[in-house]
Amino acid sequence: MYIKKLILKNFRNYKAAEVCFSESLNVFYGNNAQGKTNLLEAIFLGAIGKSFKPVSEKEIIKIGEKFSDIELNYFSGGRDMTTKMRLFTEKKKTVSVNNVGLSRMSELVGKLTVVIFTPEELSLVKEGPGDRRRFLDMAISQVRPGYMHILSSYNKALDQKNRLLKNEKMRSFETLSVWNEQLASFGAKVTEYRKSFAERIIKKASLLHSEISGGKEELTAKYKTIISEIDNLRENELKNELLTEMNKQAEREIFLGQAVVGPHRDDILFFINGKSAKAFASQGQQRTIVLALKLAQKELFLEETDEEPVLLLDDITGELDILRREYLFSNIKDSQVFITCTDTDRIDKADGAKYFRIENGTVCSEV
Ligand SMILES: Nc1ncnc2c1ncn2[C@@H]1O[C@H](COP(=O)(O)OP(=O)(O)OP(=O)(O)O)[C@@H](O)[C@H]1O
Ligand SMILES: [Mg+2]
Repeated sequence: MYIKKLILKNFRNYKAAEVCFSESLNVFYGNNAQGKTNLLEAIFLGAIGKSFKPVSEKEIIKIGEKFSDIELNYFSGGRDMTTKMRLFTEKKKTVSVNNVGLSRMSELVGKLTVVIFTPEELSLVKEGPGDRRRFLDMAISQVRPGYMHILSSYNKALDQKNRLLKNEKMRSFETLSVWNEQLASFGAKVTEYRKSFAERIIKKASLLHSEISGGKEELTAKYKTIISEIDNLRENELKNELLTEMNKQAEREIFLGQAVVGPHRDDILFFINGKSAKAFASQGQQRTIVLALKLAQKELFLEETDEEPVLLLDDITGELDILRREYLFSNIKDSQVFITCTDTDRIDKADGAKYFRIENGTVCSEV
C-alpha cells in the first residue's frame, strides 16, 4: 500500500497544503520547528484515527481555527482509496472512506497501516511501562478492529472505578465490586490480546535482533501482569484471577484512592541473553531492541494485511549508527517510506525518491 496524496487544511502550522508523494522514498527536510513532524502526524492520524503523540485533538487544529481537515489518497487492497477526516474544537471528529461516513474509528483499521519510529521511542526499553503498553496498544489497534473498542471500554470502567475510589462518601466494597466485574471482564480480553500480540512480535524481533547483533545476542521478552502465570489460562479463568486479585487488593486500592489491579499496570520486559535489558543493556543495545521491534511490527502487518505498511521515520537517522542505519534501509526497500531530517546528508539518494523542503508550514519544493 502507498499514499499518493495528502491534503491539509488548518492542521498544526499548516494553513493549507497539498502534496503528491513518491511510491518509494519521501524526505521532508528543513530547519527545526518548520512542520516536518506535523506531516508525519497528519499521515498517522489520517491512517489510524489517532495521533502518535499523547495529545488532545484540539491541540492539533491550527491555533485560532475551529476545524482541521486531513485528506489521504492512497492505494490499498488493489484499489484507490480516499480517507477524509475533519477535527473540530467542540465536537467529535468525522471520518469517511470513499465518501462513506464511518460510525466507529475501528472501521478504519487495516485500510492503511503505518509503522512510526520516533527518537522518543528509542528509549522505549528503559522508559516507564506506559510507553511500552502504548506501543503494544497502537500496534494491535491497527490490525485488530475489535481491540480499540475493548481497550476504550476498559479505560472507561477504570476511570469510573478511580473516581469512586477517590470519593470517600460513595465508595464501598459493594459499589466497587460492580466496577471490578466490568474491569476484570474487559481486562482479561485486553490482556489476552496484548499477550498473544507480544508473543508474535517478539518471535520476529528476536530473529531480526540476532541478525543485527551478528548472532551474539538473544532477545527474549515476557508480558508481565499481576498474575504470575497466565500462559495456560483461558479468558474466563483470567477474568476470575483478576477478580480474586482485585478483592485481595481492595483495602489497598481504597487507601491509595486508585485501582492497582489490571492491564493498565502491565508491562513487557525485555531480556538480552537472559539479563534484564532495562537494567543491563547499553544505550546502543536498547536501540537495537527498538529497531528490531519496529521492523518486526512491519513484518507482522505485512503478514496480517498482505501488503507492506507505510513507514514513518521521524528524525531517527541521526540517532542510529551506520550499521543500524544500513540494516534499517535494507529492510524497508519494499515499503513506501517517509523520513524527516534537518539535512539530507545521511539519507542515501534513491531512485524515484522525492525531497520536500519544509519551511514555516509550507511544503516549498519538490525535487
Ligand atoms: N495547533 C497548532 N497551530 C499552529 N502551529 C502549531 C500547532 N501545533 C504546533 N504548531 C507549530 O508547529 C511547529 C512544529 O512543527 P514540527 O513539530 O512539525 O516541527 P519540525 O519541523 O518537525 O521540527 P524539529 O526539526 O524540531 O523536529 C512549531 O513551530 C509549533 O509552534
Ligand atoms: Mg520534528
